[in-house]
Amino acid sequence: MKNTNICQILKNGSAYVGKRVTVSGWVRTSRESKTMAFIELNDGTSLKHVQLVVDKSVVDEATLEKVTPLGTALEVEGVVVESVVKKGGFEINADKFTVLGECPPDYPLQKKYHTMEYLRTIPHLRVRTNTFNAMLRVRSKVSFAIHKFFQEQGFVYVHTPIITGSDCEGAGEIFRVTTLSYEDAKKMPSEEEYYKADFFGKRAGLTVSGQLEGEVAAMAMGKIYTFGPTFRAENSNTPRHAAEFWQIEPEVAFAKLPDIIKIAESMIKYIIRYTLDNCSDEIEFFENAFEKGLKEKLEKVVNSDFAVLDYSDAIEILKKADVEFKFPVEWGLDLQTEHERYITEKVLGKPVFVTNYPKHIKAFYMKQNPDGKTVAATDLLVPGIGEIIGCSEREADYDKLSQAMVERGMNLDDYKGYLSLRRYGSVPHSGFGLGLERILMYITGISNIRDVELYARTAGDLME
Ligand code: 4AD
Ligand code: MG
Repeated sequence: MKNTNICQILKNGSAYVGKRVTVSGWVRTSRESKTMAFIELNDGTSLKHVQLVVDKSVVDEATLEKVTPLGTALEVEGVVVESVVKKGGFEINADKFTVLGECPPDYPLQKKYHTMEYLRTIPHLRVRTNTFNAMLRVRSKVSFAIHKFFQEQGFVYVHTPIITGSDCEGAGEIFRVTTLSYEDAKKMPSEEEYYKADFFGKRAGLTVSGQLEGEVAAMAMGKIYTFGPTFRAENSNTPRHAAEFWQIEPEVAFAKLPDIIKIAESMIKYIIRYTLDNCSDEIEFFENAFEKGLKEKLEKVVNSDFAVLDYSDAIEILKKADVEFKFPVEWGLDLQTEHERYITEKVLGKPVFVTNYPKHIKAFYMKQNPDGKTVAATDLLVPGIGEIIGCSEREADYDKLSQAMVERGMNLDDYKGYLSLRRYGSVPHSGFGLGLERILMYITGISNIRDVELYARTAGDLME
């Protein structure tokens, strides 16, 4: 391939001025004057396009007709020159065109702006818009920054299983994994026989979280993290819930709640700093197209301390709030998104760790506080979204943990290995789960989770 990447020409243009190059890409816009034609070409290596300037006395009308339709794939040769209109910019005086793939007029991306809803109906093409170009680029950099952060801090990356027999969050929102057909199932005399006859000889599902296996790894490797897909059959049709999402889950031996809070805060700041430093074009794009003040918001997050607020204090604040909430506010009830957003947006105006939730609204594995009512758990809430991290110190005491499981009606036999971690050299340990899509929504200002994934999976919609 003799191609020069378009990002090279845009960034290091002076090194190419006067030189002949070959570029390949897709036509994003084109317009013509009497003597000239202008084509914007994008090859995916940058958010910005390169402008091809075509002298109509050099390239004939028939060729021009073939190479200007939107979406056409081209290989182009020409000479790099400094832009006449854009100071410091570079363009290509193009004189030789090869059409790699024609694009007829029924190509759906003819307009400059399309609604996000419309784009969801063409996921195979929406990646060719500036929005998805920028989003995928940020998603890639954010993922890299997450690995970089944990690797620099000596965490070991472990791959926890996707297929499991346990329900980490205990909410029963598990996608079943089975090889039995409807016909097979109908023949089974009992539910027990049915599971026995299945592929694993027992009930299996897609993981909702890598935490339980992550704890196993942390009890040997000290500091670990997972980064992979997790699945929830939550029937909630909100802009923040997906059935398939990526989760980052560190687990740290010997860490207590304040220690893991520090790690979570520095991780978020690191990710945002990295994105600001490495995706300035994309952040500028999102600032203009999605959220005014985005850059300032992100800079502020990096440079200020996150708040910490006890759940009980949060309830008092919400009770005194001069707002009509849809959901009731009472000690013992879970915070709804409207409550979370009120606290982080209206009261504090910055990210906040809400700590020490009532134990009966949280998962079985969380460390019980001495008050007998609350657990050493925290959610990180951010303006515009609500929860992006669920975090806790884990219950390290065998008796307390097994009792919490019994109270929730869990079958202890299914969690033998997990429980035995509390018998063989148990230590205090803590961890959290960050939803990749949630942090991407926060960083880009994109307000629907369906638009921060290549293909989104949500209840009732297997985007195809
Ligand atoms: O709060 P959650 O349910 O916590 C856990 O799964 C723990 N086991 C994590 C741990 O301690 N290792 O989920 C963690 C995060 C949430 O804060 C949210 O960012 C994201 O995962 N999340 C979702 N993101 C998109 N769609 C959904 N349906 C999500 N459910 C959770
Ligand atoms: Mg949570």
